[in-house]
Amino acid sequence: MDPNEARQLVIMGTGGTIAGRAAQAGDNVGYVAAQVGVGDLVAAVPALAGLSLEVEQVAQIDSKDMGLPVWQALARRLALHLERPEVSAVVVTHGTDTLEETAFVLQRLLQPNKPVVLTCAMRPASALVPDGPQNLSDAVSVARQMREGGVFVVCAGQVHGALEVAKVHTYRLDAFDSGEAGPIACVEEGCVRRFRAETPVSGRATRDEAALSRFLAARELPRVELVTSHADAGGDLVRALVAQGHEGATRPLRGIVVAGTGNGSVHEALTAAVNEARSRGVRVVLSSRCPQGRVVPHPGLVFDHSAGLSPVKARLALALELLER
Ligand code: SIN
Repeated sequence: MDPNEARQLVIMGTGGTIAGRAAQAGDNVGYVAAQVGVGDLVAAVPALAGLSLEVEQVAQIDSKDMGLPVWQALARRLALHLERPEVSAVVVTHGTDTLEETAFVLQRLLQPNKPVVLTCAMRPASALVPDGPQNLSDAVSVARQMREGGVFVVCAGQVHGALEVAKVHTYRLDAFDSGEAGPIACVEEGCVRRFRAETPVSGRATRDEAALSRFLAARELPRVELVTSHADAGGDLVRALVAQGHEGATRPLRGIVVAGTGNGSVHEALTAAVNEARSRGVRVVLSSRCPQGRVVPHPGLVFDHSAGLSPVKARLALALELLER
């Protein structure tokens, strides 16, 4: 089938606030996430009626609890649907809290050659004025109009790339930002207006099938912990983590991502402990706790840097890399 004629969309649900419900319609914070099925979310958007859609409930969770089992289920189902010639794109509904991590993992593992569009909401489905229906409608517009593959995030009329996107606000409807890169596009009355190309998430242009198979077969991800440098920081936490590994923990420590201050500086007490960990075989990657910019390399950097990845994405990149060993 000519890919331009493939029109079937798949919408997969994983939970989140977009599927949340509160006891009172005016309550935008005291709700329970992941209560409404994805079929009902789709049925609540009149603009989607008449489109050729399939819906699939892959999970029903608050995304604070996201992890390997749901990522494996998503990756497995996505790989299958993206292979189908009649399917042009897949939309995934997801909680906002770890959306950027799922987007990063899926892009790095799948390198999709069709659009995979993640969307979400900041208000529950039961709100007086929910944002989920508009976001879902915009996500479908993006899924239908994007001409290239990749993982995109749609929220509040903006389209973000998997590499840059981050949740930056606790409450506002436009809770996501792409930092200095800016959004890839916006959606205006169902029309996608493009600003820039998507930034590749890895050096590979095509999927690494062996890496995907290892991920799908894994019982757990290699343990990589995130530590933050700050005023008055110490090394006790890192030393305890390393000691635990040597005391036969079920998941011994394999890596540490340090969210450094500013341009990747790290408190001397923490540096000493992380260096001890490194000398015992723990991989160390340095990122910055600054929400904008990246660690600009210089000879004084104490550890390998994350090549611009935020601390949470650097943690995932290192875990995926360690899975290959
Ligand atoms: C979640 O991440 O599942 C809950 C919060 C949200 O979706 O905004």
